[in-house]
Amino acid sequence: MTVAAGALSGAERVLDRCEQLGRITSLDGALERTYLSAEHASANAVVGEWMREAGLEVRQDAAGNLLGRREGRAPGLPALVLGSHLDTVTDAGKYDGMLGVLLGIEVADRLRADGAELPFALEVVGFSDEEGTRFGNALSGSRAFAGQWDESRYDLVDRKGMSLREAAVQFGLDPDGFGAAGRRPEELIGYLEAHIEQGPQLEDQDRPLAVVSSIAAARRLALTVTGRAGHAGGTPYDRRRDALVGAAEIVVEIERICRAGGTIGTVGRIRAFPGGVNVVPGVARFSLDLRAASDEERDRAWDQIDAVAREVCERRGLTWSVDEFYRADAVHCDPDFMTAISAGVTAVDPGNEAPVLWSRAGHDGMAVAAIAPVAMLFVRCGNEGVSHSPEETVRADDVAVALDAFEHAVRAVAASRR
Ligand code: HGY
Ligand code: MN
Ligand code: MN
Repeated sequence: MTVAAGALSGAERVLDRCEQLGRITSLDGALERTYLSAEHASANAVVGEWMREAGLEVRQDAAGNLLGRREGRAPGLPALVLGSHLDTVTDAGKYDGMLGVLLGIEVADRLRADGAELPFALEVVGFSDEEGTRFGNALSGSRAFAGQWDESRYDLVDRKGMSLREAAVQFGLDPDGFGAAGRRPEELIGYLEAHIEQGPQLEDQDRPLAVVSSIAAARRLALTVTGRAGHAGGTPYDRRRDALVGAAEIVVEIERICRAGGTIGTVGRIRAFPGGVNVVPGVARFSLDLRAASDEERDRAWDQIDAVAREVCERRGLTWSVDEFYRADAVHCDPDFMTAISAGVTAVDPGNEAPVLWSRAGHDGMAVAAIAPVAMLFVRCGNEGVSHSPEETVRADDVAVALDAFEHAVRAVAASRR
């Protein structure tokens, strides 16, 4: 049954729009929408129209973030910002990021509809590069928004060798002007993000929503083990310096160390060089995505991994090199905004304490926290919480209660500032 867009409930409209955004992709048969791409521009145009329909003044900032704003009871008041990101990983799901932007638009629409005179301006943001899929470094849009644009990012290159600077020109942005996207702390009162959990905990607890207490501390590293290439037949084991076997031993050790320490280490990419089937690999390169609830736990895990890797390399006659390309410290959500989110969750799920989870996934709030208090609402996702996959899924009834909870939270923030 196709319900006319005007009659769609907010939740159904959010899901319908996630489907539409899921079709703005650079790949045949899969979803990928990356920073400064044609798909980024298309998504900004479509979402910008939805923001306008919700009564927001729309603009794109100097770093390609999409912003909608409605003034409060007086012009120029500091803003409460709702939102998330519109970019995706490769072969992504339809809800990671997009759900939070679209829920923010729906809340803005509801508040506008009942003429709520807010004690703050309301902004909805679609951040442009939370994932870092194209240029390798994450949070480019929200770091720029938070006044933390790092000029060295201009020199990052994508897999086709195009620099971020060149992509900026192609996208129509000033290739030296991303810093102008920076907001000042006094312009904002806070940032609230709704996001799928990207894990199985809410499904396991059979609860639709949760309040987020903190966002994981993270480090991402490019690791290289170097040995000596050799003939697959003629090189005796006791003469081998097999980089891939050494890397494999380290990868297994990473899992052991992280499981034991309650941290999370993932090797998402590994390559052997020169890569011939009949050649003992002389070099192995692999990635490490390391996360933990606190900076200290993250760094302790890394120190253990680094020590074990050095021991393995020593024993196998290999060398070890480390290049860290991303680090984000844990962000603790603001207690007052957590209280507002919690009030929203219990308002839609009365009689139950709001679950509180620390986010294993990274989010734009890690960057925005530099200039404003942040808080997050988690929404259950199905299929054991799978994400960064086309199997990502949410239930319409969960989206409906998320929308009501999110609206309630924004009204609670307003009421606390009357
Ligand atoms: O990797 C993350 O945690 C986020 O989804 N970018
Ligand atoms: Mn993601
Ligand atoms: Mn995300």
